[in-house]
Amino acid sequence: MKKQNLVVVGGGSTYTIGMIMSLIAEKEQFPLKSITFYDTDAARQERIAKASEIILREKYPELESFSYTTDKAEALTNADFVFVQIRTGGLAMREKDEQIPLKYDSVGQETCGPGGMAYGLRSIGDMIELVNDLRSFSPEAWILNYTNPAAIVAEALRREFPDDKKLLNICDMPAAIMVSYAGILGKEVFDLVPEYFGLNHFGWFTKIYDKEGNDHTDTIKRAITEDGFIPEDAEIANDPSWIKTFKQVERMVTDFPEYLPNTYLQYYLYPSEMVTKEDPENTRARQVINGRQQRVHDLADQIIADDSTANVELEVDIHGRYMIRVAASMAYNNGDIFIVMVENNGTIASLPDDAMVEVPAMITNRGPKPFTVGHISTFYKGLIEGQLAYEKLVVDAYFENSYEKALQALTLNRTVVDAPVARQILDDLIEANKDYWPDLYHQSKKLV
Ligand code: G6P
Ligand code: MN
Repeated sequence: MKKQNLVVVGGGSTYTIGMIMSLIAEKEQFPLKSITFYDTDAARQERIAKASEIILREKYPELESFSYTTDKAEALTNADFVFVQIRTGGLAMREKDEQIPLKYDSVGQETCGPGGMAYGLRSIGDMIELVNDLRSFSPEAWILNYTNPAAIVAEALRREFPDDKKLLNICDMPAAIMVSYAGILGKEVFDLVPEYFGLNHFGWFTKIYDKEGNDHTDTIKRAITEDGFIPEDAEIANDPSWIKTFKQVERMVTDFPEYLPNTYLQYYLYPSEMVTKEDPENTRARQVINGRQQRVHDLADQIIADDSTANVELEVDIHGRYMIRVAASMAYNNGDIFIVMVENNGTIASLPDDAMVEVPAMITNRGPKPFTVGHISTFYKGLIEGQLAYEKLVVDAYFENSYEKALQALTLNRTVVDAPVARQILDDLIEANKDYWPDLYHQSKKLV
Protein backbone atom coordinates (compact mmCIF):
# COMPACT_ATOMS: atom_id res chain seq x y z
CA MET A 1 0.00 0.00 0.00
CA LYS A 2 1.38 3.38 -0.97
CA LYS A 3 1.85 5.61 2.06
CA GLN A 4 0.14 8.97 1.86
CA ASN A 5 1.23 12.53 2.55
CA LEU A 6 -1.61 14.14 4.47
CA VAL A 7 -2.20 17.83 5.07
CA VAL A 8 -4.72 19.00 7.67
CA VAL A 9 -5.92 22.52 6.96
CA GLY A 10 -7.18 24.05 10.17
CA GLY A 11 -4.56 22.29 12.30
CA GLY A 12 -5.61 24.30 15.36
CA SER A 13 -9.16 22.94 15.32
CA THR A 14 -10.61 21.32 18.43
CA TYR A 15 -11.22 18.24 16.26
CA THR A 16 -7.55 17.75 15.32
CA ILE A 17 -6.40 15.63 18.26
CA GLY A 18 -9.38 13.33 17.69
CA MET A 19 -8.33 13.15 14.05
CA ILE A 20 -4.78 12.22 15.04
CA MET A 21 -6.11 9.45 17.29
CA SER A 22 -8.27 8.24 14.41
CA LEU A 23 -5.30 8.25 12.02
CA ILE A 24 -3.45 6.10 14.52
CA ALA A 25 -6.40 3.73 14.93
CA GLU A 26 -6.82 3.49 11.16
CA LYS A 27 -3.17 3.24 10.15
CA GLU A 28 -3.64 -0.20 8.59
CA GLN A 29 -6.45 1.11 6.40
CA PHE A 30 -4.77 4.44 5.58
CA PRO A 31 -1.00 4.31 6.10
CA LEU A 32 0.77 7.65 6.18
CA LYS A 33 4.19 8.88 5.26
CA SER A 34 3.77 12.40 6.57
CA ILE A 35 1.31 14.66 8.35
CA THR A 36 1.45 18.43 7.94
CA PHE A 37 -0.76 20.90 9.78
CA TYR A 38 -1.60 24.23 8.23
CA ASP A 39 -3.45 27.08 9.95
CA THR A 40 -3.55 30.84 9.72
CA ASP A 41 -3.59 31.16 13.52
CA ALA A 42 -0.06 30.22 14.63
CA ALA A 43 -0.67 30.19 18.37
CA ARG A 44 -3.88 28.19 18.20
CA GLN A 45 -2.24 25.63 15.95
CA GLU A 46 1.00 25.36 17.93
CA ARG A 47 -0.60 24.05 21.09
CA ILE A 48 -2.50 21.34 19.20
CA ALA A 49 0.54 20.54 17.04
CA LYS A 50 2.95 20.19 19.95
CA ALA A 51 0.60 17.77 21.68
CA SER A 52 0.01 15.90 18.42
CA GLU A 53 3.74 15.55 17.91
CA ILE A 54 4.06 13.78 21.28
CA ILE A 55 1.08 11.52 20.60
CA LEU A 56 2.50 10.58 17.20
CA ARG A 57 5.97 9.97 18.57
CA GLU A 58 4.49 7.46 21.02
CA LYS A 59 1.83 5.83 18.90
CA TYR A 60 2.90 6.24 15.26
CA PRO A 61 6.67 5.68 15.16
CA GLU A 62 6.48 4.54 11.53
CA LEU A 63 5.38 8.02 10.46
CA GLU A 64 8.34 9.59 8.64
CA SER A 65 7.54 13.21 9.32
CA PHE A 66 5.23 15.50 11.22
CA SER A 67 5.32 19.27 10.80
CA TYR A 68 3.16 22.33 11.21
CA THR A 69 3.34 25.71 9.59
CA THR A 70 1.47 28.88 8.68
CA ASP A 71 3.30 29.05 5.37
CA LYS A 72 0.95 28.09 2.55
CA ALA A 73 3.52 26.95 0.02
CA GLU A 74 5.38 24.87 2.56
CA ALA A 75 2.19 23.25 3.83
CA LEU A 76 0.35 22.61 0.62
CA THR A 77 3.12 21.32 -1.64
CA ASN A 78 3.38 17.58 -2.29
CA ALA A 79 0.12 16.58 -0.68
CA ASP A 80 -1.70 13.37 -1.61
CA PHE A 81 -4.68 14.12 0.65
CA VAL A 82 -5.87 17.35 2.17
CA PHE A 83 -8.47 17.40 4.94
CA VAL A 84 -10.03 20.84 5.15
CA GLN A 85 -11.68 22.05 8.36
CA ILE A 86 -11.55 25.83 8.50
CA ARG A 87 -13.82 28.21 10.41
CA THR A 88 -13.71 31.75 9.09
CA GLY A 89 -14.38 34.12 11.97
CA GLY A 90 -13.79 31.40 14.57
CA LEU A 91 -16.14 30.47 17.38
CA ALA A 92 -16.60 34.16 18.22
CA MET A 93 -18.48 34.67 14.96
CA ARG A 94 -20.34 31.38 15.45
CA GLU A 95 -21.72 32.85 18.64
CA LYS A 96 -23.02 35.91 16.78
CA ASP A 97 -24.58 33.72 14.08
CA GLU A 98 -26.48 31.93 16.83
CA GLN A 99 -27.43 34.98 18.91
CA ILE A 100 -28.61 37.42 16.25
CA PRO A 101 -31.53 35.37 14.84
CA LEU A 102 -32.67 34.55 18.39
CA LYS A 103 -33.24 38.28 18.96
CA TYR A 104 -36.02 37.95 16.39
CA ASP A 105 -37.32 34.61 17.68
CA SER A 106 -35.75 32.72 14.81
CA VAL A 107 -33.53 29.67 15.04
CA GLY A 108 -29.94 30.54 15.95
CA GLN A 109 -27.80 27.72 14.62
CA GLU A 110 -24.33 27.21 13.17
CA THR A 111 -25.41 25.78 9.80
CA CYS A 112 -29.21 26.09 9.66
CA GLY A 113 -31.23 29.19 8.79
CA PRO A 114 -29.75 32.70 9.13
CA GLY A 115 -26.69 31.48 11.07
CA GLY A 116 -25.89 29.12 8.24
CA MET A 117 -26.23 31.90 5.71
CA ALA A 118 -23.96 34.17 7.73
CA TYR A 119 -21.33 31.47 8.10
CA GLY A 120 -21.67 30.55 4.43
CA LEU A 121 -21.06 34.09 3.27
CA ARG A 122 -17.91 34.13 5.43
CA SER A 123 -16.61 30.72 4.34
CA ILE A 124 -17.02 30.85 0.57
CA GLY A 125 -14.24 33.36 -0.17
CA ASP A 126 -11.69 31.61 2.01
CA MET A 127 -12.57 28.22 0.59
CA ILE A 128 -12.21 29.43 -3.01
CA GLU A 129 -8.84 30.93 -2.19
CA LEU A 130 -7.72 27.76 -0.46
CA VAL A 131 -8.75 25.46 -3.31
CA ASN A 132 -6.95 27.73 -5.78
CA ASP A 133 -3.82 27.59 -3.62
CA LEU A 134 -4.08 23.86 -3.25
CA ARG A 135 -4.42 23.36 -6.95
CA SER A 136 -1.35 25.46 -7.64
CA PHE A 137 0.80 23.59 -5.09
CA SER A 138 -0.70 20.06 -5.30
CA PRO A 139 -2.72 19.74 -8.49
CA GLU A 140 -3.42 16.04 -8.02
CA ALA A 141 -4.23 15.93 -4.31
CA TRP A 142 -7.56 14.64 -3.10
CA ILE A 143 -9.34 17.36 -1.16
CA LEU A 144 -11.79 16.19 1.50
CA ASN A 145 -13.68 19.23 2.61
CA TYR A 146 -15.84 19.27 5.70
CA THR A 147 -15.83 23.01 6.23
CA ASN A 148 -19.26 24.29 7.20
CA PRO A 149 -21.87 25.17 6.24
CA ALA A 150 -21.08 22.26 3.95
CA ALA A 151 -24.17 22.57 1.75
CA ILE A 152 -23.48 26.19 0.89
CA VAL A 153 -19.71 25.71 0.59
CA ALA A 154 -20.24 22.69 -1.69
CA GLU A 155 -22.56 24.67 -3.96
CA ALA A 156 -20.11 27.57 -4.19
CA LEU A 157 -17.20 25.23 -4.97
CA ARG A 158 -19.27 23.40 -7.58
CA ARG A 159 -19.80 26.71 -9.37
CA GLU A 160 -16.23 27.92 -9.02
CA PHE A 161 -14.44 24.63 -9.79
CA PRO A 162 -16.81 22.73 -12.10
CA ASP A 163 -14.04 20.54 -13.52
CA ASP A 164 -12.30 19.64 -10.29
CA LYS A 165 -12.91 15.91 -9.95
CA LYS A 166 -10.76 15.44 -6.85
CA LEU A 167 -12.67 17.66 -4.49
CA LEU A 168 -15.16 15.91 -2.23
CA ASN A 169 -17.47 17.55 0.33
CA ILE A 170 -18.45 15.42 3.28
CA CYS A 171 -20.17 15.62 6.63
CA ASP A 172 -19.89 13.30 9.60
CA MET A 173 -23.46 13.70 10.88
CA PRO A 174 -25.00 10.71 9.04
CA ALA A 175 -22.12 8.57 10.31
CA ALA A 176 -22.48 9.89 13.86
CA ILE A 177 -26.17 8.97 13.73
CA MET A 178 -25.27 5.53 12.40
CA VAL A 179 -23.01 4.98 15.41
CA SER A 180 -26.18 5.09 17.51
CA TYR A 181 -27.99 2.73 15.11
CA ALA A 182 -25.03 0.38 15.45
CA GLY A 183 -25.37 0.63 19.23
CA ILE A 184 -29.05 -0.33 19.04
CA LEU A 185 -28.22 -3.31 16.83
CA GLY A 186 -25.08 -4.35 18.69
CA LYS A 187 -23.05 -4.01 15.51
CA GLU A 188 -20.03 -2.04 14.32
CA VAL A 189 -20.87 1.19 12.46
CA PHE A 190 -18.86 0.29 9.36
CA ASP A 191 -20.82 -2.96 9.08
CA LEU A 192 -24.01 -1.00 8.37
CA VAL A 193 -25.05 -0.03 4.85
CA PRO A 194 -27.35 3.00 4.63
CA GLU A 195 -29.84 4.16 2.04
CA TYR A 196 -30.25 7.89 2.40
CA PHE A 197 -31.25 10.98 0.44
CA GLY A 198 -31.35 14.74 0.89
CA LEU A 199 -29.13 17.77 1.18
CA ASN A 200 -26.39 18.26 3.75
CA HIS A 201 -27.91 18.54 7.25
CA PHE A 202 -31.26 17.97 5.56
CA GLY A 203 -31.78 14.31 4.74
CA TRP A 204 -33.37 10.99 5.68
CA PHE A 205 -32.27 7.39 6.01
CA THR A 206 -34.78 5.25 4.14
CA LYS A 207 -33.13 1.92 4.99
CA ILE A 208 -30.40 0.51 7.17
CA TYR A 209 -28.95 -2.83 6.13
CA ASP A 210 -26.01 -4.84 7.35
CA LYS A 211 -23.38 -6.14 4.98
CA GLU A 212 -25.19 -9.46 4.67
CA GLY A 213 -28.20 -7.58 3.32
CA ASN A 214 -30.49 -7.90 6.35
CA ASP A 215 -32.87 -4.97 6.74
CA HIS A 216 -32.77 -3.43 10.23
CA THR A 217 -34.83 -0.31 9.55
CA ASP A 218 -37.93 -1.31 11.50
CA THR A 219 -35.92 -2.54 14.46
CA ILE A 220 -34.20 0.85 14.66
CA LYS A 221 -37.46 2.79 14.35
CA ARG A 222 -39.10 0.71 17.03
CA ALA A 223 -36.12 1.06 19.35
CA ILE A 224 -36.10 4.84 18.88
CA THR A 225 -39.80 5.33 19.59
CA GLU A 226 -39.95 2.82 22.44
CA ASP A 227 -36.59 3.18 24.17
CA GLY A 228 -35.39 6.60 22.96
CA PHE A 229 -32.33 7.62 21.03
CA ILE A 230 -28.99 8.70 22.44
CA PRO A 231 -25.66 9.82 21.00
CA GLU A 232 -23.11 7.04 21.40
CA ASP A 233 -20.00 8.35 19.66
CA ALA A 234 -17.36 9.25 22.25
CA GLU A 235 -17.16 12.89 21.17
CA ILE A 236 -20.84 13.64 21.77
CA ALA A 237 -22.14 10.90 24.07
CA ASN A 238 -21.97 12.91 27.30
CA ASP A 239 -22.87 16.27 25.87
CA PRO A 240 -26.26 17.55 27.14
CA SER A 241 -26.91 19.49 23.94
CA TRP A 242 -26.32 16.44 21.74
CA ILE A 243 -28.39 14.31 24.12
CA LYS A 244 -31.29 16.76 23.64
CA THR A 245 -30.80 16.73 19.88
CA PHE A 246 -30.88 12.93 19.69
CA LYS A 247 -33.92 12.91 21.96
CA GLN A 248 -35.71 15.08 19.40
CA VAL A 249 -35.21 12.32 16.81
CA GLU A 250 -37.63 10.25 18.86
CA ARG A 251 -40.20 12.99 18.36
CA MET A 252 -39.50 13.27 14.63
CA VAL A 253 -39.83 9.52 14.11
CA THR A 254 -43.11 9.56 16.02
CA ASP A 255 -44.52 12.47 14.00
CA PHE A 256 -43.10 11.36 10.63
CA PRO A 257 -42.45 7.63 10.86
CA GLU A 258 -41.75 6.94 7.19
CA TYR A 259 -38.00 7.56 7.33
CA LEU A 260 -35.25 8.14 9.87
CA PRO A 261 -34.34 11.83 9.94
CA ASN A 262 -31.00 13.59 10.15
CA THR A 263 -30.86 15.32 13.54
CA TYR A 264 -30.62 18.76 11.89
CA LEU A 265 -34.20 18.47 10.63
CA GLN A 266 -35.32 19.44 14.13
CA TYR A 267 -34.57 23.08 13.29
CA TYR A 268 -36.82 23.02 10.22
CA LEU A 269 -39.66 20.90 11.60
CA TYR A 270 -39.90 22.48 15.07
CA PRO A 271 -38.39 25.96 14.68
CA SER A 272 -40.47 27.68 17.40
CA GLU A 273 -39.68 25.01 19.92
CA MET A 274 -35.99 25.24 19.10
CA VAL A 275 -36.08 28.97 19.77
CA THR A 276 -37.72 28.62 23.17
CA LYS A 277 -35.11 26.05 24.22
CA GLU A 278 -32.21 28.40 23.51
CA ASP A 279 -30.48 30.74 25.93
CA PRO A 280 -28.87 33.61 23.96
CA GLU A 281 -26.18 33.94 26.64
CA ASN A 282 -25.25 30.29 26.32
CA THR A 283 -25.72 29.21 22.74
CA ARG A 284 -23.86 26.23 21.31
CA ALA A 285 -20.76 28.32 20.47
CA ARG A 286 -20.41 29.36 24.12
CA GLN A 287 -20.88 25.74 25.21
CA VAL A 288 -18.17 24.65 22.77
CA ILE A 289 -15.80 27.40 23.93
CA ASN A 290 -16.27 26.46 27.59
CA GLY A 291 -16.65 22.76 26.92
CA ARG A 292 -14.88 21.00 24.04
CA GLN A 293 -12.37 23.76 23.36
CA GLN A 294 -11.40 24.06 27.01
CA ARG A 295 -11.17 20.31 27.36
CA VAL A 296 -9.01 19.91 24.25
CA HIS A 297 -6.73 22.79 25.27
CA ASP A 298 -6.32 21.38 28.79
CA LEU A 299 -5.58 17.98 27.32
CA ALA A 300 -2.96 19.42 24.96
CA ASP A 301 -1.36 21.44 27.75
CA GLN A 302 -1.15 18.37 29.96
CA ILE A 303 0.48 16.28 27.20
CA ILE A 304 2.99 19.05 26.51
CA ALA A 305 3.80 19.56 30.22
CA ASP A 306 4.32 15.81 30.75
CA ASP A 307 5.98 15.30 27.38
CA SER A 308 3.87 12.15 27.36
CA THR A 309 0.31 10.92 27.03
CA ALA A 310 0.61 8.79 30.17
CA ASN A 311 -1.72 10.98 32.25
CA VAL A 312 -4.47 11.65 29.75
CA GLU A 313 -7.30 9.74 28.22
CA LEU A 314 -7.40 9.88 24.43
CA GLU A 315 -10.35 8.76 22.38
CA VAL A 316 -11.07 7.91 18.80
CA ASP A 317 -14.23 9.43 17.36
CA ILE A 318 -16.39 8.81 14.33
CA HIS A 319 -15.60 12.20 12.81
CA GLY A 320 -11.97 11.26 12.16
CA ARG A 321 -12.59 7.62 11.39
CA TYR A 322 -15.23 8.48 8.83
CA MET A 323 -13.06 10.94 6.88
CA ILE A 324 -10.18 8.47 6.96
CA ARG A 325 -12.25 5.53 5.69
CA VAL A 326 -13.54 7.69 2.84
CA ALA A 327 -9.98 8.78 2.03
CA ALA A 328 -8.75 5.17 2.15
CA SER A 329 -11.48 4.10 -0.24
CA MET A 330 -10.28 6.77 -2.69
CA ALA A 331 -6.62 6.01 -2.23
CA TYR A 332 -6.91 2.25 -2.62
CA ASN A 333 -10.07 2.02 -4.71
CA ASN A 334 -11.86 0.02 -2.02
CA GLY A 335 -15.32 0.74 -3.40
CA ASP A 336 -16.77 1.13 0.09
CA ILE A 337 -20.12 2.87 0.46
CA PHE A 338 -20.33 6.18 2.31
CA ILE A 339 -22.77 9.07 2.40
CA VAL A 340 -21.17 12.06 0.66
CA MET A 341 -22.15 15.16 -1.29
CA VAL A 342 -22.29 14.93 -5.07
CA GLU A 343 -23.79 16.90 -7.91
CA ASN A 344 -27.22 15.37 -8.40
CA ASN A 345 -27.25 14.62 -12.14
CA GLY A 346 -30.27 12.39 -11.89
CA THR A 347 -29.39 10.61 -8.65
CA ILE A 348 -32.57 11.94 -7.01
CA ALA A 349 -34.96 11.99 -9.95
CA SER A 350 -37.22 14.73 -8.65
CA LEU A 351 -34.46 17.31 -8.15
CA PRO A 352 -32.42 19.49 -10.53
CA ASP A 353 -29.20 18.10 -11.98
CA ASP A 354 -27.14 20.90 -10.50
CA ALA A 355 -28.23 20.38 -6.88
CA MET A 356 -25.51 19.30 -4.47
CA VAL A 357 -27.20 16.33 -2.81
CA GLU A 358 -26.13 14.04 0.03
CA VAL A 359 -26.47 10.36 -0.85
CA PRO A 360 -24.62 7.06 -0.48
CA ALA A 361 -21.94 6.51 -3.09
CA MET A 362 -19.35 3.91 -3.86
CA ILE A 363 -16.03 5.62 -3.19
CA THR A 364 -13.41 4.80 -5.80
CA ASN A 365 -10.12 6.19 -7.08
CA ARG A 366 -12.18 7.86 -9.82
CA GLY A 367 -14.29 9.62 -7.23
CA PRO A 368 -17.72 8.94 -5.73
CA LYS A 369 -20.16 6.84 -7.77
CA PRO A 370 -23.60 7.59 -6.29
CA PHE A 371 -26.40 5.05 -6.23
CA THR A 372 -29.67 6.06 -7.84
CA VAL A 373 -32.34 7.16 -5.35
CA GLY A 374 -35.14 7.65 -7.88
CA HIS A 375 -38.28 9.67 -7.18
CA ILE A 376 -38.98 11.01 -3.74
CA SER A 377 -42.46 11.75 -2.45
CA THR A 378 -44.15 15.12 -2.07
CA PHE A 379 -43.34 15.94 1.57
CA TYR A 380 -39.59 15.42 1.14
CA LYS A 381 -39.50 16.93 -2.32
CA GLY A 382 -41.26 20.06 -1.07
CA LEU A 383 -39.01 20.46 1.93
CA ILE A 384 -35.84 19.85 -0.08
CA GLU A 385 -36.80 22.19 -2.91
CA GLY A 386 -37.32 25.07 -0.48
CA GLN A 387 -34.05 24.42 1.29
CA LEU A 388 -32.18 23.97 -1.98
CA ALA A 389 -33.52 27.28 -3.26
CA TYR A 390 -32.33 28.94 -0.04
CA GLU A 391 -28.85 27.44 -0.46
CA LYS A 392 -28.63 28.50 -4.10
CA LEU A 393 -29.80 32.02 -3.28
CA VAL A 394 -27.14 32.39 -0.57
CA VAL A 395 -24.48 31.45 -3.10
CA ASP A 396 -26.05 33.82 -5.65
CA ALA A 397 -25.93 36.56 -3.02
CA TYR A 398 -22.21 35.91 -2.60
CA PHE A 399 -21.30 35.92 -6.28
CA GLU A 400 -23.63 38.76 -7.23
CA ASN A 401 -23.09 40.89 -4.11
CA SER A 402 -26.84 40.89 -3.84
CA TYR A 403 -28.78 42.07 -0.82
CA GLU A 404 -32.00 41.05 -2.52
CA LYS A 405 -30.89 37.47 -3.04
CA ALA A 406 -29.85 37.24 0.61
CA LEU A 407 -33.26 38.58 1.64
CA GLN A 408 -34.99 36.10 -0.64
CA ALA A 409 -32.89 33.29 0.80
CA LEU A 410 -33.84 34.07 4.38
CA THR A 411 -37.50 34.59 3.52
CA LEU A 412 -37.59 31.18 1.89
CA ASN A 413 -35.95 29.44 4.80
CA ARG A 414 -38.36 27.51 7.02
CA THR A 415 -36.65 28.89 10.12
CA VAL A 416 -37.59 32.49 9.19
CA VAL A 417 -40.52 32.80 6.71
CA ASP A 418 -41.62 36.40 7.49
CA ALA A 419 -40.01 38.88 5.09
CA PRO A 420 -39.81 41.74 7.62
CA VAL A 421 -38.10 39.44 10.10
CA ALA A 422 -35.76 38.23 7.37
CA ARG A 423 -34.83 41.85 6.65
CA GLN A 424 -34.13 42.69 10.28
CA ILE A 425 -31.97 39.63 10.75
CA LEU A 426 -30.13 40.29 7.50
CA ASP A 427 -29.38 43.88 8.44
CA ASP A 428 -28.01 42.81 11.81
CA LEU A 429 -25.93 40.10 10.20
CA ILE A 430 -24.50 42.54 7.66
CA GLU A 431 -23.38 44.78 10.50
CA ALA A 432 -21.87 41.90 12.48
CA ASN A 433 -20.09 40.45 9.45
CA LYS A 434 -18.74 43.62 7.88
CA ASP A 435 -15.15 42.38 8.13
CA TYR A 436 -16.00 39.11 6.38
CA TRP A 437 -18.91 39.33 3.98
CA PRO A 438 -18.89 40.61 0.44
CA ASP A 439 -20.44 44.03 0.25
CA LEU A 440 -24.05 43.20 -0.50
CA TYR A 441 -25.64 45.76 -2.78
CA HIS A 442 -27.98 47.46 -0.42
CA GLN A 443 -30.68 49.27 -2.30
CA SER A 444 -33.78 49.50 -0.19
CA LYS A 445 -33.02 48.91 3.41
CA LYS A 446 -36.18 50.45 4.80
CA LEU A 447 -39.54 48.81 4.91
CA VAL A 448 -42.31 50.96 3.54
C1 G6P B 1 -21.78 17.61 13.48
C2 G6P B 1 -21.97 18.19 12.12
C3 G6P B 1 -21.00 19.28 11.88
C4 G6P B 1 -21.12 20.33 12.96
C5 G6P B 1 -20.96 19.70 14.31
C6 G6P B 1 -21.28 20.72 15.37
O1 G6P B 1 -20.56 16.97 13.54
O2 G6P B 1 -21.87 17.27 11.09
O3 G6P B 1 -21.25 19.84 10.63
O4 G6P B 1 -20.17 21.34 12.81
O5 G6P B 1 -21.82 18.62 14.45
O6 G6P B 1 -21.00 20.20 16.60
P1 G6P B 1 -20.78 21.12 17.87
O7 G6P B 1 -20.52 20.13 18.94
O8 G6P B 1 -19.62 22.01 17.54
O9 G6P B 1 -22.03 21.89 18.05
MN1 MN C 1 -21.93 18.41 9.14
